Amino acid sequence: MAPAALLQTPVESTTTTPTPPLPIPLSAPTVTGPTTKKATRPTHPLPRSLIEGAQILSDEKVPFDPSVHLAYTPPSKIHKMADFGLEGAGISPNAISEPFPLFTPEAIRQMRGEVFSPEVLEHCRFSSSFCANMIRGMGHVRAPFIYDVWKSPEVLSKISAAAGIDLIPAFDYEIANINVAVKDDDHFTTETTTASKDAVKPITNDNDDNVPAFAWHYDSFPFVCVTMLSDCSNMIGGETAIRLPDNSIKKVRGPAQGYAVVMQGRYLEHQALKALGGRERISMVTPFRPRDVNIHDEVILVGTRGISDLDEMYPDYFGYRMEVLEERVRGIIKAERERERSGRGFDVEKMRGWVKEQREFLDSMLREMIVVE
Ligand SMILES: [Fe+2]
Repeated sequence: MAPAALLQTPVESTTTTPTPPLPIPLSAPTVTGPTTKKATRPTHPLPRSLIEGAQILSDEKVPFDPSVHLAYTPPSKIHKMADFGLEGAGISPNAISEPFPLFTPEAIRQMRGEVFSPEVLEHCRFSSSFCANMIRGMGHVRAPFIYDVWKSPEVLSKISAAAGIDLIPAFDYEIANINVAVKDDDHFTTETTTASKDAVKPITNDNDDNVPAFAWHYDSFPFVCVTMLSDCSNMIGGETAIRLPDNSIKKVRGPAQGYAVVMQGRYLEHQALKALGGRERISMVTPFRPRDVNIHDEVILVGTRGISDLDEMYPDYFGYRMEVLEERVRGIIKAERERERSGRGFDVEKMRGWVKEQREFLDSMLREMIVVE
């Protein structure tokens, strides 16, 4: 994996030999955010018709069953990082998929029932300047169907196929993020819960008549899967716009109901374009990280701290980071024992690189897991 973190770390070498510039940025942008802003909650209730329309009776609730609830067809096309002039950036050669069918209407009904249940609406609603109505951190108790969907090996294999790399959910608190846009409040938006807000650049309308739902940004997680929970058949717009290194814009269609888009959002400068028409637009954004713990990890919390219950989110983040570190340490100890047995010499440079990678991993935790006043 490319030593991307080194690009963000002060140079410590005493050598005067200049490092040749990299042709393209291999690393995601470094971003810092406000340290004093607590999560805000929406002040307005969601429309009653939306909540009542999503309700399902307790005897209608069923466990997630991939043989019943999946309607998967592979994406017609997967855009590569190389197609966007970003070859070598990120953790996979795949950039973004065309929308592909993933869930049956019954699966969508079950998920909507959980999202708009009284328990979830009481505890899991958040608001930000990016999206006035978000639902996050539902957990497996309040949303068992949704939790099981994103933990399902069948679903993960399909997301991983689209991503070009074996993925797992980033951590439990991030299962999942729902962005709610409803007709009667036109500043609602459609996609941003994983955004690095401080990576945002001013909105520009250069050569483009489309109205952006969000400013340009990078996500906080390597990959996201955006799933549509609304019927978008009467809508126009809603594409994802991606800004390429040469400043040109590439647009990829947004998903229809039950469809998904998989995107390497941490390494793609993008924005969601506003969808016009329709009564509601409710999308679910689920963040992912690589299953292989040795792959470079650039998960950040800048975009999510202000829209999270930190008493729940920080323990999940801390737990996943420690599990990654534990597995990495076990792996390097095993490799070191095997090296000794084989009689090969100790590779000082390689081992120093490993130590630096772990130091950056821990330094990142100190930057992200901060006390919020
Ligand atoms: Fe995004």
